[in-house]
This record gives sequence, structure tokens and C-alpha cells, in this order.
Amino acid sequence: MLSKLRPLLLALPCLLLSGLAIAEPRTLIFSHVVSEDTPKGKMALMFKSMIERRLGDQFQIEIYPNTELMDDDEAVTAIAEGRIHFAAPSLSKFQNYTNRLMVYDLPFLFADMDAVERFQGSAQGQALLTHMSTDGILGLSYLHNGLKQLTANRDFSQPDDLAGLRFRIIASEVLQKQFELLDAEPVPMAFSQVYQALANNDIQGQENTWSNIYSQAFYEHQPYMMQSNHGVLDYMVITNADFWNSLTDEQLQEFIFAMEMSVKYGNAVALAKNQNDRAALSSMGDVTLLEPTSVQLAQWQTAMKPLWQEYEPLIGAAVIEAALEANQVP
Ligand code: SIN
Repeated sequence: MLSKLRPLLLALPCLLLSGLAIAEPRTLIFSHVVSEDTPKGKMALMFKSMIERRLGDQFQIEIYPNTELMDDDEAVTAIAEGRIHFAAPSLSKFQNYTNRLMVYDLPFLFADMDAVERFQGSAQGQALLTHMSTDGILGLSYLHNGLKQLTANRDFSQPDDLAGLRFRIIASEVLQKQFELLDAEPVPMAFSQVYQALANNDIQGQENTWSNIYSQAFYEHQPYMMQSNHGVLDYMVITNADFWNSLTDEQLQEFIFAMEMSVKYGNAVALAKNQNDRAALSSMGDVTLLEPTSVQLAQWQTAMKPLWQEYEPLIGAAVIEAALEANQVP
């Protein structure tokens, strides 16, 4: 009997090896909504290139930028369901899964991006990365874009000036209330539709970072801008928890390293781009960029800050406290 099986047993290693040799690398999908020449776009490209350099025989990463595959609302669900592998939606995009991330939408909560960075590194900030893992969503890292600015198609300097304007928002309850407090009309809309809606005058204002205002050419229809720094637009790089847990220790090490390096790079790009794009916008002849005085800024804060108290029960006092603590320079 054994002698009959012997040729087969001898051939087995070769068969297995040839099977391995022709195994196709697994395709992993990274979906996002911005152009490749943005902090997130560049971060995704670096992540892909690092993984493929080290693990290219096992994984290939297909990046779909510019909403080519899906918008970020769908991407969050697709990650939870394991249909895609990576995405980096804005922190405002998780309200179907959690209330705690609403902390990032509270206006004027963070003094600057250093404070955002300190909060994200704190125990509360880190816990927010993993608290949706039972829904299949695992946060691997935060990624910066920057602070948001207000833009409109008419001149404005104080909160009353925006009354009656239709303002595009990311679909988020806190952002909706923020504009209602100004008697403006919040209009939830996917990022990919904003430029056309501005061009058609369906909306008259929006809030975004310098980098997004510039790279999406929103300035063409939004000649009035205020350096309000009133909110933060950061991302969570997310993956499907089951996919992540299926990786071997060796693969995990490579993925974690590639993530750390590409996020560092993306953050450096974010800082540089927001500075450069602000400068480019302010030098445009037809753009009016208002730098509010401290008195003007205080008016905006007074108008918007009531949201902190309103949302404390949903977000949790400890999370808001940690965010405020992060404003203290150590
Ligand atoms: C993004 O930067 O990913 C999009 C932000 C937005 O929807 O305004």
C-alpha cells in the first residue's frame, strides 16, 4: 500500500510548491474621496508602495481615490462588512456607529492642531480608535488634514452674516446644529458633489481645510473666506477587524510599520499643504481672506459653543475633558 502511495508522497512537496508559486497575491481595496495630491491621497500611495515592496507576493493594494468606488458613508459600512479593506473617512462620518467621535465636530474645542495631536495620543483618544471593533471597524491610526475654515459666496465677518445661506456639511448631527445656531441652512452632501453644487448656487457656503478648498477649486465659487479655525477635519484610517485579525504576526508587523510611516508622511504633507494652499488662496486677486480679530472670533465662539454642553451626555464628559486638557501646552 505504502509503495503505491510513495510516488504521490514524493511528488507532494513539488505540487505544493508549484501551487504556492502560482498563487495570486490577494487584492486589498483602499477607497477614499479626495485627489491623490492631498495628504490622504499621498498617505494611501505610500502605504500601498511600502506593503507591495515588502509583501507584494502576498498582497496588492488597489487605491480608488476621488470617490471612484464609493463615498465615505458607504466606505464606513463597507469596512464594517469586510467588503473593502482600508479607508480614511473624516471623523464626522461615524455617527451610525458611535456618538463618542462627535467630540471632533464640536466647534472651537481644540486650540490648534498640536492640541488635536495631544488628544489623539491620550488614553481617551486612543480608546476611540478601537471602540467600534465589535461592529467590525478597527481604527489603525488618526491622520491629519487640519483645521476648518468658513467660505461663502458673499462677504461675511460675524455670525449673523451667514443667516439664510445654504451651507454644505458632512452629514453630521453636530455640524447640522452648528449651522442652525447661525440661522444658516445646513445641507448634508457628499464631498464629490460640492463643487458642482457651489457652481449651480444650490449651496452658498461650506466649511473645509485650506487643502481641500484649494485642491477642489471651491475658491472659484467661494471668493469670501474666513480664517476661523473653528473645527477640525481629521481622519481615522480604518480596516475591517476580521481581516486585520486574520493577518499573521509577520504580516501584521509590516502593516503596522507601513501604516506608521505613511501616516507620518501624510501628516507632514497636511501641514505643508495647508500652509502653502492658504498662501496660494490669499494671493489670489479675487479671493477675500478675512483674518478675524479676537473680538470677532469671540462672537463666533459665543454663537457656536453651546453645542459642547448639549452633546456632553452623548459624547461623555471624560472624553470632552480630555480634549480640553489637551489644549494645555505641557
Ligand atoms: C475629505 O477630506 O475626506 C472630505 C472632507 C469633506 O467631506 O468635506
